Amino acid sequence: MNQPTNPTPNDRRHHDGQTPIVDVHLGTDDIDKALRMDVEVGLLATPKELPPKWFYDERGSELFDEITRLDEYYPTEAEREILVEHAARIITTTDAETIIELGSGTSDKTKALLDAAWANTTMHRFVPFDVSEEFLRASVDELADRYPGLVVHGVVGDFDHHLPYLPTGDRQLLMLLGGTIGNYQPAERRVLLSTIVGRQRTGDHVLLGVDLVKDVDRLERAYDDAAGVTAAFNKNVLNVVNHRLDADFDLDGFEHVARFDREQEWIEMLLRSTVDQQVRVEALELDVSFAAGELMRTEVSAKFRRERFEAELQALGLEPMLWLTDLAGDFAVSVSRVR
Ligand code: SAH
Ligand code: TRP
Repeated sequence: MNQPTNPTPNDRRHHDGQTPIVDVHLGTDDIDKALRMDVEVGLLATPKELPPKWFYDERGSELFDEITRLDEYYPTEAEREILVEHAARIITTTDAETIIELGSGTSDKTKALLDAAWANTTMHRFVPFDVSEEFLRASVDELADRYPGLVVHGVVGDFDHHLPYLPTGDRQLLMLLGGTIGNYQPAERRVLLSTIVGRQRTGDHVLLGVDLVKDVDRLERAYDDAAGVTAAFNKNVLNVVNHRLDADFDLDGFEHVARFDREQEWIEMLLRSTVDQQVRVEALELDVSFAAGELMRTEVSAKFRRERFEAELQALGLEPMLWLTDLAGDFAVSVSRVR
């Protein structure tokens, strides 16, 4: 998956008198190629690692949606509270004509913002962007119905590669909700943010939903719920590799681990091999062995503190404008202006 080859919309559907557009920059071949690379590099590394974007096949997106409704998983409701409470302020501050959402998923919380923006008339276009095509198409249809006249322009792609294909023009507000920016390690986070800043114009805004450092027990419970949904979500990445790359991971031979790293201030999600085992990845002609107890990292979820985070934004050319938290102080929405 180097440069996308298909910048033109390949699907225009007539829908209730409107035409939501979905551009697909990520075909099955691209996904397989990128997955192959990531799995080969990750399984040959020490310690082993699988990158998180592969969680989100259709089953993975469903499981994530279930996570957002768990009692233990507070970030979704905390962020929703912030967006509902402060939507008008965010919209006045950013005065956006186009809103772009990276990693939009179902765009459920986003509706709070879009409601306020739609009432204010300046905003005329919404661009949800996600790797998960099924979820993106469903939300594009729903939003086009909800806001008749709004241009809804979905993009299926990988925001690590396909940002150049986002629509340009207009005063833009670009957002990543749900703590997705925290799923990057610091160096990669800076790469993504500076790529974003590089494509935006002065006066555009960037909105980032970030989870905050808090009590370790609550943090760990949010990523290891009693019903085992997060465990199933984490193990689903093995299913994705089994199906797409013809591998033979035995899901019963791995257990879900979530732990807070106090030094890095991030939650690490790992899979622990419960036995000595060999795994064959047919598509890569690769045999990998796991020792009993061996840990493979699948995700980090960084927890932030205001001062450090805003300093990081400043250093990248972003001027912090708003720092909004829920009443409990669990989660923050940061809005900054591109200098
Ligand atoms: N914004 C939603 C979903 C967050 S989960 C919320 O706040 O609840 C992260 C989302 O980002 C998923 O929908 C996943 O499919 C998408 N995603 C993860 N990595 C991606 C990548 N590299 N490119 C595009 N989308 C990605
Ligand atoms: N962005 C979400 C977060 O960091 C993603 C997430 C929630 C997640 N629960 C997870 C990722 C469990 C992997 C495993 O909170």
